[in-house]
Amino acid sequence: EQMPLQLTINGKARQLSIEPRVTLLDLLREQLHLTGTKKGCDHGQCGACTVHVDGQRVNSCLTLAMTTEGCAVTTIEGLAEGGESGDAATARLHPMQEAFIKHDGFQCGYCTPGQIMSAVACIREGHANSPDEIREYMSGNICRCGAYANIVDAIMDVKQ
Ligand code: FES
Repeated sequence: EQMPLQLTINGKARQLSIEPRVTLLDLLREQLHLTGTKKGCDHGQCGACTVHVDGQRVNSCLTLAMTTEGCAVTTIEGLAEGGESGDAATARLHPMQEAFIKHDGFQCGYCTPGQIMSAVACIREGHANSPDEIREYMSGNICRCGAYANIVDAIMDVKQ
C-alpha cells in the first residue's frame, strides 16, 4: 500500500507516494533516480549512503523514508550549485568537492559522495578542529582505497 510523503529534496518541494517500508536510500536512488547517494553495505556500516536530513548527517540506508515527512533532505546532487540540473557546464562545485579534487581525496570514488556529505557536516557541527577530531567524526565512512589521509587534508583545507 502506498502512503503520501511530502518533503523537500535539494531545495525542491516534493509530493510523493511511497511504500511505508522503503528506506530513504532506496527512495532517492530507485524512485527519484538520485544515484549520487551510494549503497555500500545497506546496514549502517560503511557511510556510502550519507545524506543530510534537516542539516544532520544520516545513513539513508537506516532511515525509513516515512520518517522524513516535512524534512529537508540534501544529497550530493544538491551540494553543487545547480548540480541537480545535471548541467555540468553551469554547476558550481561546493568548496568541499573542490578540496577533494585538489587533495586527491578518492581513488575509485564509490565512497566519495558519502565522504563529502560527512565532511561538510563535520565542519558545520564543529568537529574539524584537528586531524584527530576529523578522523573520529569521519570514522563511520569507510574507504576501501585508503584515501583517509587525503580526505583529512581536504577537510582541514576547507576549515581554514
Ligand atoms: Fe548505508 Fe553502508 S549503505 S551505511
